[in-house]
Amino acid sequence: MDWGKQNRLSRLLGPDGNCFFMPIDHGYFQGPTTSLERPAETIAPLYPYYDALFCTRGVLRSVIDPRRSKPIILRVSGGASMVGQDLADETLTTSIEEIVRLNASAAGISVFIGTRYEKQTLNNLAVLVDECEGLGIPVMAVTAVGRELEKRDARYLGLCCRICAELGATVVKTYWCENFDKVVRGCPVPVVIAGGPRCETPLEVFSFVYDGMQRGAIGINLGRNVWQSADPAAVARALQAIIHENATPAAANAIAEEMAHGGLVAA
Ligand code: 5RP
Repeated sequence: MDWGKQNRLSRLLGPDGNCFFMPIDHGYFQGPTTSLERPAETIAPLYPYYDALFCTRGVLRSVIDPRRSKPIILRVSGGASMVGQDLADETLTTSIEEIVRLNASAAGISVFIGTRYEKQTLNNLAVLVDECEGLGIPVMAVTAVGRELEKRDARYLGLCCRICAELGATVVKTYWCENFDKVVRGCPVPVVIAGGPRCETPLEVFSFVYDGMQRGAIGINLGRNVWQSADPAAVARALQAIIHENATPAAANAIAEEMAHGGLVAA
C-alpha cells in the first residue's frame, strides 16, 4: 500500500488496528433524524470515545470545527430520500477535489446489491475507487439494504461484501448477522459492523458487537444505537471498551451502567 493511503487509513484506526467510527450522515436521506437535529451537540459528549467521524461535506463544513476534529470519512453518495421513489437510486454526490480539499481520511459510499440500482451503485463504487486510488484515499463501501432489513443474513451480506472488495473497496461496512465469520471469511478486506435501527437494550448492542469482533470484524460504525440511547456517552464508552479493550458484553454493560450512574469516566 502506498505511504499516503496507509497513513490515511492508520489515522482511522486505534494502535491495535481496531476502529470505532461514529456515523452522523443520516440526514443525507432522512433529514433531521431524531437525536441528530443538531449534530455538533449530539457528538460533543461522544468525542473521547470514537476514532473517526462519518459525515457529509455539508455537516462537516457547517458544524464541525476544523481545528478540533477526529479524522473524517466523507459520505460521498446520495441523491435519494425517505420520501422519494427509491432509496437505492444513489449517485456520487461529491467530487474527488472536494474529498481532497476537505482533507478526508477516507470516502464512504453505499451500494444496493439485489435492487434495480445494483449496477448503478456498483458503478459509483468503481468510479470512486478509480479516483481515490490515484490519490491514495481509502474507500469504505457500505452494503445498504434500505428498508429491507430482513435481507441481513450471512449469504446475502457475504455476497455483498465480496463484491465490494472485488471492486476495490479498502474496507467494507456491513450489518452483523448470525454466522458473521462466514461474511468476514469471504471478504479479503477488513469488515466493519454497521449499526441499524435502535435495539431494545444496550446489552443487545454490546452482544452483537462483541460477537462480530470475535468473528473477525475490525470495528464498528454505529450511530443510532449510540446517540438515540438513553445515555449516549455511557454506551459509547462501553463500545470503546469492547473495540479497544476486548471487554465482554457483561463488562461493557457494567461500564455503561456505572458511568450512567456517575461512577466511571473516560478511559
Ligand atoms: C446507511 C448508513 C448510515 O446513514 C449510517 O452510517 C448508519 O448508521 P446506524 O445504522 O448505526 O445509525 O450508512 O446505510
